[in-house]
Amino acid sequence: MAGKREEARDCGRGVVISDDWPGYHLDLFTYPQHYCGDLNRVLIPHGVIVDRTEKLAKDIMNDIGFCDIVVLCVLKGSYKFCADLVENLKTISRNSDTFVSMKVDFIRLKSYRNDQSMGDMQISGADDLSKLAGKNVLIVEDIVGTGRTMKSLLGKIEKYKPNMIKVVSLLVKRTLRSDGFRPDYAGFEIPDLFVVGYALDYNEYFRDLNHICVISEQGKGKYRV
Ligand code: IMP
Ligand code: MG
Repeated sequence: MAGKREEARDCGRGVVISDDWPGYHLDLFTYPQHYCGDLNRVLIPHGVIVDRTEKLAKDIMNDIGFCDIVVLCVLKGSYKFCADLVENLKTISRNSDTFVSMKVDFIRLKSYRNDQSMGDMQISGADDLSKLAGKNVLIVEDIVGTGRTMKSLLGKIEKYKPNMIKVVSLLVKRTLRSDGFRPDYAGFEIPDLFVVGYALDYNEYFRDLNHICVISEQGKGKYRV
C-alpha cells in the first residue's frame, strides 16, 4: 500500500495514464466525422476532462484562492482548458466567503511543427508582460512535453518580478526528452504520444474535437506541412 508521501507525490502527477492504457474505441463516442480515420483512439473522454478540471480548480483555490490572481492563458492550445478552469474558479469563488479577484490575460506561443518541437519559441502578445510585476500569476498551459516552452516562458516572466508564479497544465507527457520541468498542478500524466483535441492541435487541425485523442499515421500524413 502506498504511504502518505507517495500518495501526495502521485496526486502531483495528476491522473496517471499508463503506457499500456488502450484508451477507448472511437465508435463509443461522438466526434466530427471529417476526422474519420485520422485518429487512433480516445485517450481521455471530454467528460473526464471536465471532472478533473473541477478538482484542479478546487486545489488551486485551496492554495492561492485568498489572493488576487492574474490567469495567463497560453494560446492557442489552452483556450478550452483555461475557459473551463476559470468558470470553475468563478463558481468556487462566488460560493465561498473569501473574496478573490481574478483577471485573465493571454499570450500566444508557437514552437511545434507537425509533431516536433522546433526549439525556437515564437511568442506574441507578450509586449506588456511588465504589467505582471508584483502580481500573483497563474499560467494555464495545455500540455508540457519537453518542458522547454514553459521554462522559456517562465524565464521571460520572471524578469518582470511577479509576486508569485504557479503553472497549471492539463497534460504532462512522460517523455525521455523531458528537461525535468513539472507544473505545480497537473491534470493528467500521459504516455509519450502526440495527442489532439480539446483545443490541442496538429498544424491547427483537431481543435474542434471534444475528446483528447491519439492521432493516427493517416492523420499525421494528411495534415502534415
Ligand atoms: P514542450 O516545449 O515540448 O514542452 O511543448 C509544449 C507545447 O508544445 C505545448 O504547449 C503544445 O502547444 C505543444 N505540444 C506538445 N506536445 C503536444 C501534443 O502531444 N499535442 C499537441 N500539442 C503539443
Ligand atoms: Mg500550449
